[in-house]
Amino acid sequence: MDTDHHDNTGDHHDTSPERRTTAADVLAGVDLTGRRYLVTGGGSGLGLASVEALVGAGAAVIIATRDPSNVDALARSGDVDVRQLDLADLDSVRSFVRAWDRPLDGLIANAGVMALPERRLSASGWEMQLATNHLGHFALALGLHEHLVAAGDARIVVVSSGAQLLAPLDLDDPHFARRPYDPWVAYAQSKTADVLMAVGMARRWAGDGITANAVAPGWIRTRLQRHVDPVSLRSMGVYEEDGKVHTPAFFKTTAQGAADQVSLVAAPATAHVTGRYFEDGRPAAVVEGGTGLQSGVASWSIDPDTADGLWELGLAAIE
Ligand SMILES: NC(=O)c1ccc[n+]([C@@H]2O[C@H](COP(=O)([O-])OP(=O)(O)OC[C@H]3O[C@@H](n4cnc5c(N)ncnc54)[C@H](OP(=O)(O)O)[C@@H]3O)[C@@H](O)[C@H]2O)c1
Repeated sequence: MDTDHHDNTGDHHDTSPERRTTAADVLAGVDLTGRRYLVTGGGSGLGLASVEALVGAGAAVIIATRDPSNVDALARSGDVDVRQLDLADLDSVRSFVRAWDRPLDGLIANAGVMALPERRLSASGWEMQLATNHLGHFALALGLHEHLVAAGDARIVVVSSGAQLLAPLDLDDPHFARRPYDPWVAYAQSKTADVLMAVGMARRWAGDGITANAVAPGWIRTRLQRHVDPVSLRSMGVYEEDGKVHTPAFFKTTAQGAADQVSLVAAPATAHVTGRYFEDGRPAAVVEGGTGLQSGVASWSIDPDTADGLWELGLAAIE
């Protein structure tokens, strides 16, 4: 199935402007000429939609991706540079960082994997979803810190998910060594870690002129769901018929799903926003995490002590 393709042809019951705003909309009239952005996983899905919007506003964009040959031709048009990076491999992150030699105005920590069926560990011994979605981005941002500082007013956006509502970060057993591995709990934990990372960066790097925020893009049909079985997808109303991918009305397009990450990395209106978790164009309310929730940021995802614990864990891993 060409899961990158989406058409959202279903009835759109939810037409609220915040949900239907696109990444291009949030940059309407904004000139990003001379600005440089790094988008991890920028070759597909929400990353690609972000790249298109940023390039459309005149920015220079660097896509970091595991396999540059997979990057959509669309993403190669305009001022786009494609570089190899495997976030699950700290040596790859180190090489990427060593090759970086210029100020960086914004980083969208967008790349991610979801619901890996089996427990897998990275070379550093980290559970693979936590290693990819969180640790690789942590190492990348720390490695590029001096270049973010050099920009003067750099912004970091970490792409989290509503899944952070489902599970806290378990600092005692982050890699499922002593508890049964569950693909969704591991994904949820990694997305909680993403919010905690933004919280930690916002606090530590405010004096460097750097903002850091997290976003939940909503539901968007992308390659991310490749490990989700077709029966589960169909139960959500996602299926392919006559060469078209059908999605339910609450799904967004990639351009809509990328609106907040693009806004927070480059729109003038959000220049001073930091330490927040955005969904549908605004900061989310803080809620107690659990199942059955549709929106909000869980209190465990913004807990300062857990953010500090995660920071220490990450530092120990990347030394
Ligand atoms: N789609 C949704 O409904 C949804 C909802 C909530 C949150 N999100 C978040 O949105 C972000 C983007 O996902 P998407 O939906 O746009 O899915 P996607 O099209 O699969 O994009 C994910 C990107 O991450 C890259 N990636 C995966 N592992 C990597 C690694 N080890 N090193 C470097 N790059 C890696 C992938 O490239 P390769 O595989 O080619 O390397 C791909 O380009 C993810 O963080 C996801 O958790 C998505």
